Amino acid sequence: MRIVRTTDYKDMSRKAANIISAQVILKPDSVLGLATGSTPIGTYRQLAEWCAKGDCDFSHVSTYNLDEYRGLSHDHVQSYHYFMRKNFFDHINIDLANTHVPDGANPDYDAACAEYDRIVADAGYPDLQLLGIGRNGHIGFNEPDSVFSKGTHMVNLTQSTIDANSRLFDSPDEVPRQAYTMGVQTIMYAHSILVVANGEDKADAVRAMCFGPVDPQCPASILQLHTNCTVIADEAALSKC
Ligand code: GLP
Repeated sequence: MRIVRTTDYKDMSRKAANIISAQVILKPDSVLGLATGSTPIGTYRQLAEWCAKGDCDFSHVSTYNLDEYRGLSHDHVQSYHYFMRKNFFDHINIDLANTHVPDGANPDYDAACAEYDRIVADAGYPDLQLLGIGRNGHIGFNEPDSVFSKGTHMVNLTQSTIDANSRLFDSPDEVPRQAYTMGVQTIMYAHSILVVANGEDKADAVRAMCFGPVDPQCPASILQLHTNCTVIADEAALSKC
């Protein structure tokens, strides 16, 4: 695991965008695994800026997002489908047909998750997987547990994740209680992994991810076993390391 310390959020975002941009320049038909949350928004903005200048071409790229709330339509403003269009896809030259997000609108979770596993496997798994980290160490929506999860599955969100994500909804009651997420094993199949983290409220999770025991109680700790994982984090997120 490589740890890159940055001065602030902007610096973290630019460095992460540099790595993704290099990936796409070196392999124009890259398969990217993408994440939602506030943390990667600056990275997406930077990439969109470079794309507008012609420095980064997404026309042959395909993307697979980590997760989606169960029960939200693709047009729901809080859905991750909508988030990805608004924060990234609408601002780059990607073919929307090549973008994929688990189908939270499908109530049949077995079918929705199996289908997503199939398409991610058919794509050969991401060349580069971008990840944020939850305050409790979750990746995707893989919450602390007694085992590491495998493929795409339905999860019941923990109260701490519901509380953390409620800032994006009008009221905590509106936060869906369930989600579909790529499993930890699938995330580990990515050929390279890039984790972004900023802010003091991530400091405990970042320490557990990088230096704690490899333990499903901190799902991100498994990344210590990945052979090509880079963590880009600002001073505040690294303040307890
Ligand atoms: C959500 C997403 C995660 C993300 C996490 C942290 O739970 N499912 O993929 O890493 O939030 O989000 P933020 O970057 O807003 O702190």
